[in-house]
Amino acid sequence: MTIQEEIRQLCRQKNAVIMAHYYQRGEVQDVADFIGDSLALAQQAAKTKADIIVMCGVHFMAETAKCLCPDKKVLIPAPEAGCSLADSCQAADLRKWKEQHPDYTVVSYVNTSAEVKALTDVVVTSSNALKIVNQLPKDAKILFGPDQNLGNYINSMTGRQMELWNGSCHVHARFSAEALMRLKQEHPNAKVLTHPECKQVIINLSDVVGSTQALLNYVREHKDSEYIIVTEWGVIHEMQKSCPDVRFIPVPPEVTEGVGCSCNECEYMRMITLEKLRDTLHDETNTVEVPLDIAEQAIRSIRRMLEMS
Ligand code: 13P
Ligand code: SF4
Repeated sequence: MTIQEEIRQLCRQKNAVIMAHYYQRGEVQDVADFIGDSLALAQQAAKTKADIIVMCGVHFMAETAKCLCPDKKVLIPAPEAGCSLADSCQAADLRKWKEQHPDYTVVSYVNTSAEVKALTDVVVTSSNALKIVNQLPKDAKILFGPDQNLGNYINSMTGRQMELWNGSCHVHARFSAEALMRLKQEHPNAKVLTHPECKQVIINLSDVVGSTQALLNYVREHKDSEYIIVTEWGVIHEMQKSCPDVRFIPVPPEVTEGVGCSCNECEYMRMITLEKLRDTLHDETNTVEVPLDIAEQAIRSIRRMLEMS
């Protein structure tokens, strides 16, 4: 039996569902029941009938699923898979920021711990951030964190002046503008598709700015002959499956570390392997727990997001 067959058999035996983010290794995406961006993963978790959710993503994604499904077992095959962006915003520091801005609405990116979500009025993802911020009262004073680049992008698109936390994703913030300009010259017909966690200089060089799902939808609908992709390159796996004849060109990071580093990769997302997935499912280890008081607070801002999406 192949490892993929073993995993699928375990899922059937245990009534488990595997959810994978688009930044996962291709072989992990291929064995999943559901692949999505962070919004879609939360939406799927909220409605699944499975007894066990195996979250192939980073820790905050598993925590969000646990908050939405407190009675289900949520497993993460690599519990050490964190997120540099989520780590940049600790709950104690957010509490202080809130104290300094008592009449502000707190809007937090989903890339945060459950503790931070518990201090938040509404959570957003890159898929729904514009839509949700646009629904807040025009005169609302807003604290937005932790991604400064996404916050800048939302401010520029909505005309708001949200106060921004000084955090960024080490993957998206390090794309090289020089390399992008060179690739644009080499491929003049290629559209540049970019995630809004990238810096303004990169956004300015782009044709389409959107969440992982929005970029994938764009490719599926337009099917141009080539695209330059400015986000974590794992998404190219699904793009290439959807459009086998299209050429996808990843953009390298600013500093090329190591040999042959030609694309940006989130090392946390790559921590999950098929072997870890099989073993976690088999042994039902690496359960994700969120203290009840935190989960009860966090679920309010998560549910508010789902209602406003
Ligand atoms: P998405 O919301 O597009 O899935 O992005 C999540 C993420 O971690 C981006 O780095
Ligand atoms: Fe976090 Fe960046 Fe990895 Fe996304 S790509 S999970 S924001 S470190």
